Amino acid sequence: MILSPSLLSADFSRLAEELAALEAAGTTWLHLDVMDGAFVPNITFGPPLIKVLRPHSGLFFDVHLMVEEPARYLRDFKDAGADLLVIHAEADRHPQRTLSEIRKLGLRAGLALNPGTDLAPVRWLAPDMDLLLLMSVNPGFSGQAFIPRTYEKTRAARAMLAEAGADHALIEVDGGVCPDNAASLLEAGADVLVSGSAFFGHKPYDARLAAFMNAARGLAERPGLRAARVWRAVAPHSNP
Ligand code: DX5
Ligand code: ZN
Repeated sequence: MILSPSLLSADFSRLAEELAALEAAGTTWLHLDVMDGAFVPNITFGPPLIKVLRPHSGLFFDVHLMVEEPARYLRDFKDAGADLLVIHAEADRHPQRTLSEIRKLGLRAGLALNPGTDLAPVRWLAPDMDLLLLMSVNPGFSGQAFIPRTYEKTRAARAMLAEAGADHALIEVDGGVCPDNAASLLEAGADVLVSGSAFFGHKPYDARLAAFMNAARGLAERPGLRAARVWRAVAPHSNP
Protein backbone atom coordinates (compact mmCIF):
# COMPACT_ATOMS: atom_id res chain seq x y z
CA MET A 1 0.00 0.00 0.00
CA ILE A 2 0.97 3.61 -0.44
CA LEU A 3 0.07 6.23 2.16
CA SER A 4 -0.65 9.67 0.72
CA PRO A 5 -0.72 12.18 3.61
CA SER A 6 -3.09 15.08 2.93
CA LEU A 7 -1.33 18.42 3.17
CA LEU A 8 -4.57 20.04 4.33
CA SER A 9 -3.88 18.82 7.86
CA ALA A 10 -0.22 19.93 7.93
CA ASP A 11 1.04 23.04 9.71
CA PHE A 12 0.57 25.72 7.02
CA SER A 13 2.92 28.15 8.75
CA ARG A 14 5.88 25.81 8.10
CA LEU A 15 5.10 23.71 5.04
CA ALA A 16 8.67 23.26 3.80
CA GLU A 17 9.63 21.74 7.16
CA GLU A 18 6.57 19.50 7.07
CA LEU A 19 7.56 18.18 3.64
CA ALA A 20 11.10 17.48 4.81
CA ALA A 21 9.74 15.65 7.87
CA LEU A 22 7.46 13.52 5.68
CA GLU A 23 10.32 12.46 3.44
CA ALA A 24 12.56 11.74 6.41
CA ALA A 25 9.79 9.54 7.83
CA GLY A 26 9.74 7.50 4.61
CA THR A 27 6.53 8.64 2.87
CA THR A 28 6.61 8.76 -0.94
CA TRP A 29 3.35 10.52 -1.92
CA LEU A 30 1.75 13.81 -0.92
CA HIS A 31 -1.99 14.43 -1.38
CA LEU A 32 -2.82 18.04 -2.30
CA ASP A 33 -6.49 19.05 -1.96
CA VAL A 34 -7.45 21.87 -4.33
CA MET A 35 -10.90 23.32 -3.56
CA ASP A 36 -12.59 26.08 -5.54
CA GLY A 37 -15.49 27.13 -3.28
CA ALA A 38 -17.95 26.08 -6.02
CA PHE A 39 -17.71 22.31 -6.39
CA VAL A 40 -17.18 22.05 -2.63
CA PRO A 41 -18.05 24.53 0.15
CA ASN A 42 -14.44 25.38 0.96
CA ILE A 43 -11.48 27.15 -0.66
CA THR A 44 -7.89 25.96 -0.23
CA PHE A 45 -5.05 26.65 -2.68
CA GLY A 46 -4.09 26.36 -6.33
CA PRO A 47 -1.05 26.08 -8.61
CA PRO A 48 1.00 28.92 -6.98
CA LEU A 49 1.30 27.07 -3.67
CA ILE A 50 2.14 23.77 -5.37
CA LYS A 51 4.80 25.56 -7.40
CA VAL A 52 6.59 26.98 -4.36
CA LEU A 53 6.49 23.61 -2.60
CA ARG A 54 7.86 21.68 -5.58
CA PRO A 55 11.55 22.58 -5.17
CA HIS A 56 11.37 21.52 -1.51
CA SER A 57 10.21 17.99 -2.19
CA GLY A 58 10.81 14.86 -4.22
CA LEU A 59 7.46 13.41 -3.08
CA PHE A 60 4.99 12.24 -5.74
CA PHE A 61 2.43 15.06 -5.93
CA ASP A 62 -1.05 13.51 -5.94
CA VAL A 63 -3.28 16.49 -6.76
CA HIS A 64 -7.00 16.12 -5.98
CA LEU A 65 -8.96 18.72 -7.94
CA MET A 66 -12.26 19.52 -6.23
CA VAL A 67 -12.88 22.11 -8.91
CA GLU A 68 -15.65 22.75 -11.46
CA GLU A 69 -14.59 22.03 -15.06
CA PRO A 70 -10.98 21.21 -14.16
CA ALA A 71 -9.92 20.97 -17.82
CA ARG A 72 -9.36 24.74 -17.71
CA TYR A 73 -6.38 24.37 -15.37
CA LEU A 74 -4.49 21.22 -16.41
CA ARG A 75 -1.51 23.02 -17.90
CA ASP A 76 -1.22 25.27 -14.82
CA PHE A 77 -1.06 22.28 -12.49
CA LYS A 78 1.46 20.50 -14.69
CA ASP A 79 3.69 23.58 -14.76
CA ALA A 80 3.36 23.84 -10.98
CA GLY A 81 4.79 20.33 -10.59
CA ALA A 82 1.86 17.92 -10.22
CA ASP A 83 2.56 14.23 -10.97
CA LEU A 84 -1.02 12.93 -10.83
CA LEU A 85 -4.17 14.97 -11.51
CA VAL A 86 -7.43 13.59 -10.14
CA ILE A 87 -10.64 15.12 -11.48
CA HIS A 88 -14.17 14.60 -10.18
CA ALA A 89 -16.66 12.88 -12.51
CA GLU A 90 -19.38 15.14 -11.04
CA ALA A 91 -17.49 18.33 -11.93
CA ASP A 92 -16.62 17.64 -15.56
CA ARG A 93 -19.00 17.38 -18.51
CA HIS A 94 -16.37 15.62 -20.60
CA PRO A 95 -14.27 13.50 -18.26
CA GLN A 96 -13.02 11.17 -21.00
CA ARG A 97 -11.48 14.11 -22.83
CA THR A 98 -9.99 15.58 -19.67
CA LEU A 99 -8.41 12.28 -18.61
CA SER A 100 -6.85 11.96 -22.08
CA GLU A 101 -5.56 15.53 -21.92
CA ILE A 102 -3.92 14.84 -18.57
CA ARG A 103 -2.10 11.86 -20.03
CA LYS A 104 -1.10 13.87 -23.10
CA LEU A 105 0.61 16.30 -20.73
CA GLY A 106 2.69 13.35 -19.49
CA LEU A 107 0.95 13.12 -16.12
CA ARG A 108 -0.96 10.28 -14.47
CA ALA A 109 -4.74 10.65 -14.70
CA GLY A 110 -7.23 9.90 -11.94
CA LEU A 111 -11.03 9.98 -11.64
CA ALA A 112 -12.73 10.70 -8.31
CA LEU A 113 -16.27 9.76 -7.28
CA ASN A 114 -18.24 11.23 -4.37
CA PRO A 115 -19.81 8.83 -1.86
CA GLY A 116 -23.23 9.19 -3.51
CA THR A 117 -22.00 8.70 -7.08
CA ASP A 118 -22.51 5.32 -8.69
CA LEU A 119 -19.55 3.41 -10.14
CA ALA A 120 -21.10 3.53 -13.63
CA PRO A 121 -18.45 5.91 -15.09
CA VAL A 122 -15.75 3.35 -14.24
CA ARG A 123 -17.15 0.90 -16.77
CA TRP A 124 -16.53 3.26 -19.67
CA LEU A 125 -13.60 5.33 -18.43
CA ALA A 126 -11.45 2.53 -16.97
CA PRO A 127 -8.97 2.47 -19.90
CA ASP A 128 -8.45 6.22 -19.54
CA MET A 129 -7.48 6.22 -15.88
CA ASP A 130 -4.39 5.33 -13.89
CA LEU A 131 -6.22 5.74 -10.60
CA LEU A 132 -9.76 5.73 -9.25
CA LEU A 133 -10.32 7.83 -6.13
CA LEU A 134 -13.27 6.80 -3.99
CA MET A 135 -14.37 9.49 -1.54
CA SER A 136 -15.24 8.01 1.84
CA VAL A 137 -16.56 11.37 3.10
CA ASN A 138 -18.30 14.17 1.22
CA PRO A 139 -15.45 16.32 -0.08
CA GLY A 140 -14.71 19.73 1.41
CA PHE A 141 -13.13 19.24 4.80
CA SER A 142 -10.72 17.02 6.65
CA GLY A 143 -11.61 15.44 9.97
CA GLN A 144 -14.98 13.97 8.91
CA ALA A 145 -16.27 10.50 9.81
CA PHE A 146 -15.55 7.61 7.44
CA ILE A 147 -18.58 6.21 5.58
CA PRO A 148 -18.45 2.38 6.06
CA ARG A 149 -20.27 1.60 2.79
CA THR A 150 -16.95 2.50 1.14
CA TYR A 151 -15.73 -1.07 1.81
CA GLU A 152 -18.43 -2.53 -0.42
CA LYS A 153 -17.91 0.17 -3.03
CA THR A 154 -14.17 -0.52 -3.10
CA ARG A 155 -14.78 -4.25 -3.65
CA ALA A 156 -17.25 -3.51 -6.45
CA ALA A 157 -14.85 -1.01 -8.06
CA ARG A 158 -11.99 -3.49 -7.99
CA ALA A 159 -14.19 -6.09 -9.71
CA MET A 160 -15.36 -3.55 -12.28
CA LEU A 161 -11.80 -2.49 -13.13
CA ALA A 162 -10.77 -6.13 -13.55
CA GLU A 163 -13.75 -6.78 -15.81
CA ALA A 164 -12.84 -3.74 -17.92
CA GLY A 165 -9.29 -5.05 -18.33
CA ALA A 166 -7.90 -2.19 -16.26
CA ASP A 167 -6.62 -4.01 -13.22
CA HIS A 168 -3.47 -1.89 -13.45
CA ALA A 169 -5.49 1.11 -12.21
CA LEU A 170 -4.95 1.95 -8.56
CA ILE A 171 -7.80 2.53 -6.14
CA GLU A 172 -7.27 5.39 -3.70
CA VAL A 173 -9.61 5.95 -0.75
CA ASP A 174 -9.91 9.45 0.72
CA GLY A 175 -11.65 10.69 3.85
CA GLY A 176 -11.70 9.53 7.46
CA VAL A 177 -9.03 6.88 6.85
CA CYS A 178 -7.07 5.79 9.94
CA PRO A 179 -5.01 2.77 11.04
CA ASP A 180 -8.20 1.08 12.33
CA ASN A 181 -10.00 0.95 8.97
CA ALA A 182 -6.89 0.67 6.76
CA ALA A 183 -6.65 -3.15 6.77
CA SER A 184 -10.29 -3.60 5.74
CA LEU A 185 -9.87 -1.07 2.92
CA LEU A 186 -6.77 -2.85 1.62
CA GLU A 187 -8.53 -6.21 1.79
CA ALA A 188 -11.41 -4.72 -0.20
CA GLY A 189 -8.96 -3.73 -2.96
CA ALA A 190 -7.59 -0.27 -2.13
CA ASP A 191 -3.95 0.47 -3.01
CA VAL A 192 -3.47 4.07 -1.87
CA LEU A 193 -4.84 5.50 1.36
CA VAL A 194 -5.12 9.24 1.94
CA SER A 195 -4.90 10.46 5.50
CA GLY A 196 -5.14 14.00 6.82
CA SER A 197 -6.14 14.40 10.45
CA ALA A 198 -5.35 10.81 11.45
CA PHE A 199 -1.79 11.26 10.19
CA PHE A 200 -0.64 14.80 10.94
CA GLY A 201 -2.14 14.86 14.43
CA HIS A 202 0.17 12.03 15.51
CA LYS A 203 3.90 12.65 15.72
CA PRO A 204 6.48 11.28 15.13
CA TYR A 205 5.58 10.69 11.50
CA ASP A 206 7.74 7.58 11.06
CA ALA A 207 5.82 5.78 13.82
CA ARG A 208 2.51 6.94 12.38
CA LEU A 209 3.49 5.74 8.90
CA ALA A 210 4.42 2.36 10.43
CA ALA A 211 0.97 2.16 12.08
CA PHE A 212 -0.65 2.52 8.64
CA MET A 213 1.82 0.19 6.93
CA ASN A 214 1.12 -2.52 9.52
CA ALA A 215 -2.35 -2.78 8.06
CA ALA A 216 -0.80 -4.13 4.86
CA ARG A 217 1.08 -6.92 6.64
CA GLY A 218 0.32 -10.33 5.21
CA LEU A 219 -1.42 -8.93 2.13
CA ALA A 220 0.16 -9.61 -1.27
CA GLU A 221 0.90 -6.42 -3.22
CA ARG A 222 -0.98 -6.21 -6.50
CA PRO A 223 1.20 -5.96 -9.66
CA GLY A 224 -0.45 -2.61 -10.49
CA LEU A 225 0.75 -1.17 -7.22
CA ARG A 226 4.27 -2.49 -7.68
CA ALA A 227 4.39 -0.78 -11.10
CA ALA A 228 3.07 2.48 -9.63
CA ARG A 229 5.97 2.70 -7.20
CA VAL A 230 8.11 3.99 -10.06
CA TRP A 231 5.58 6.54 -11.36
CA ARG A 232 7.14 9.90 -12.03
CA ALA A 233 6.18 12.88 -14.19
CA VAL A 234 8.00 13.48 -17.49
CA ALA A 235 10.54 15.78 -15.92
CA PRO A 236 11.68 14.16 -12.68
CA HIS A 237 11.65 16.55 -9.76
CA SER A 238 14.91 17.06 -8.01
CA ASN A 239 15.40 16.83 -4.31
CA PRO A 240 17.14 19.90 -2.91
C1 DX5 B 1 -11.62 16.03 1.83
C2 DX5 B 1 -10.25 15.86 1.22
C3 DX5 B 1 -9.42 14.88 1.96
C4 DX5 B 1 -9.13 15.28 3.39
C5 DX5 B 1 -8.78 14.05 4.16
O1 DX5 B 1 -12.42 16.78 0.99
O2 DX5 B 1 -10.36 15.42 -0.13
O3 DX5 B 1 -8.23 14.58 1.26
O4 DX5 B 1 -8.10 16.21 3.49
O5 DX5 B 1 -8.71 14.37 5.52
P1 DX5 B 1 -9.10 13.31 6.64
O6 DX5 B 1 -8.16 12.15 6.50
O7 DX5 B 1 -8.90 14.08 7.92
O8 DX5 B 1 -10.52 12.91 6.41
ZN1 ZN C 1 -8.50 14.63 -1.11
